[in-house]
Amino acid sequence: MRWRPLWPNTKATQPRSVRFPDLILRTERLVLRPLRDSDATDVVAGASDPVTQQWLPLPRPYTVDHARAFINRLAPGLHAVGHGVVRAIEHNGAFAGVIDLKRTDWVARVTEIGYWAMPAFRGRGVMTEATTALSHWALHNAGFERVELRIAPGNAASNRVAIKSGFAREGIARSAGQIHGTRVDLVIYSRIPTDL
Ligand SMILES: CC(C)(COP(=O)(O)OP(=O)(O)OC[C@H]1O[C@@H](n2cnc3c(N)ncnc32)[C@H](O)[C@@H]1OP(=O)(O)O)[C@@H](O)C(=O)NCCC(=O)NCCS
Repeated sequence: MRWRPLWPNTKATQPRSVRFPDLILRTERLVLRPLRDSDATDVVAGASDPVTQQWLPLPRPYTVDHARAFINRLAPGLHAVGHGVVRAIEHNGAFAGVIDLKRTDWVARVTEIGYWAMPAFRGRGVMTEATTALSHWALHNAGFERVELRIAPGNAASNRVAIKSGFAREGIARSAGQIHGTRVDLVIYSRIPTDL
């Protein structure tokens, strides 16, 4: 799918009208599609998982009300203001996780990927396939110049996904994040058009 935003000209301000398309991406095994009301139970299970909770600053406990707010308000709100786009990852019709583009800077043409996988789908290359496809779309189809990943140094699985998805490790941003009230360093990865 070819899609290019109307880039702002020389003004160094965030354009108000630019936002992502309502993207559906298909890969060999996956479909990245909008979240649905019927995903709420799976979102609760995935977001409540202890490993997800260890690495992501999600509400604790994570209830069905949080999931409904995420699906019906937070994700559409992020999309509406142009900050990003959230997609469910579907594997053979089953809900396998969530991936998003976020913290988008339309002037610098930089965006960032975040993700979590359902425990039952981990270790099968699902997130590598989704991250490869979404970053490729951003760089090749949407005109971005840089896609970032920011990952805690101890999160071995996610650091591995970054490398397997064709990202380059740049270094550590000290105290760049916060998980459940604790400051954490973050490893910075990037993928740029010449990496494709
Ligand atoms: C990170 C996460 C999304 C990875 O999803 P996934 O679909 O399992 O990822 P993949 O199968 O594509 O790749 C995982 C890789 O990490 C490796 N891995 C998994 N656990 C590991 C561990 N504890 N130590 C070292 N490597 C590990 C796997 O072996 C695999 O690498 P390989 O293919 O070379 O064997 C998933 O573990 C998750 O949801 N974690 C909780 C949420 C999270 O951390 N989100 C990211 C925040 S930055």
